[in-house]
Amino acid sequence: MSASDQENVRFSKGLEGIVAAESSVGYVDGLAGKLVYRGYDVNTLVENCDYEEVSYLLLNGELPNREQYKDYSSSLRKKRQLDNDTLNLIRDLKDTHPMSALRTVISFIGARDNRSIEPDLETQKSISIDLIAKIPSVVAAINRAHNSKEFISPDDDLPFSSNFFYQALGRRPDKDEAKMIDEALILHADHGMNASTFTSMVVISTLSDMYSAVTAAISSLKGPLHGGANERALALIQRVGKPENAEKVISNMIASKEKIMGFGHRVYKVYDPRAKILKKFVETVTKKNGQENLFLTAEKIENIMAQTLGSKGIFPNVDFYSGLLYYSVGFDPSIFTPIFAVGRISGWTARSLEYLSDNKIFRPRGMYVGNRGPKEFIPIDDRQ
Ligand code: CMC
Repeated sequence: MSASDQENVRFSKGLEGIVAAESSVGYVDGLAGKLVYRGYDVNTLVENCDYEEVSYLLLNGELPNREQYKDYSSSLRKKRQLDNDTLNLIRDLKDTHPMSALRTVISFIGARDNRSIEPDLETQKSISIDLIAKIPSVVAAINRAHNSKEFISPDDDLPFSSNFFYQALGRRPDKDEAKMIDEALILHADHGMNASTFTSMVVISTLSDMYSAVTAAISSLKGPLHGGANERALALIQRVGKPENAEKVISNMIASKEKIMGFGHRVYKVYDPRAKILKKFVETVTKKNGQENLFLTAEKIENIMAQTLGSKGIFPNVDFYSGLLYYSVGFDPSIFTPIFAVGRISGWTARSLEYLSDNKIFRPRGMYVGNRGPKEFIPIDDRQ
């Protein structure tokens, strides 16, 4: 590359502020604290729809009518069951972290599906629907294996989120829990060009298959700066233990420039609207389950963060309260990030399909800051 090649390029670390694709799937307004899916405010969707409707909306652009809803819901239910080979693999992976197991299992399912060889757009969509149906069963089975418990078959009478809850925890959710898990999955369904969604789009843009795109997205979601923050946020709340300890622990962490997991966001510079909704659930559920101390500790951490870093636009993000919510109904911390994937699968696939319909391979440039040479070549035996 010649020096002039790089003269007029713009470099933005972490692609901050760079627009890399057009989309009509969803919109994050980071200054107003608004999240929109296909034109609908997410608050309207959580109040009026279930996850299956929202998943259909993201994939197809419009909310389903009654007939379309019935067809979509029944096609998801038909695809939920996992075969024995997949369940055996999950059993073999019982001692690995559930996010690593999830990545491996999705890759395994894809490797055994002949449709994954050069699929056309229609096949990519059909694989997407299979993945949306199967990911909850995979995550639930991973949770069971990880806790040395028997697998539970899907219950065809239960909708998407309640069935996931049932297969993972071995009990049917009550009305409040059913609403809570469904809303949490809706709130995680899509969120702009976040790292994992971007990863899935980069993979699909090479005309690879949806299994590969989703496997890569899971790998990206796993990191603590992204989906992995929820598990660590709960660990912090538990470590602080009670509201009176929060001031000392958090100020020490801030003083030593440690990141407080579950706070801050590349796009939101105000309160994350998803955290607002989840916080209300956490308050209710922890009160009901006798774990209010954890909620009060979390709220105290939030207040200290607002006083110290609020002026920098750092507030709780979706990961701060989601982990505490899942924990308070009985999920293990190691399964929090896989639950994020159960929700986000609709956004990953919707955006990848959208991108594929007018594809251009992603291929950014790197800014070369190394020696431009030419350096003198030294034969290997003469090098020091
Ligand atoms: N705790 C303490 N300081 C923070 C935090 C935090 N959680 N987040 C940002 N800051 C500070 C950071 O130290 C930096 O300060 P300075 O300008 O003095 O160097 C400034 O705010 C900008 O932070 P950044 O890391 O450069 O911002 P970014 O846009 O590159 O990163 C982020 C965004 C989400 C990775 C970051 O806020 C973070 O690491 N948060 C903790 C991890 C987390 O909760 N991740 C979940 C994100 S939301 C859901 C999801 O996508 O999974």
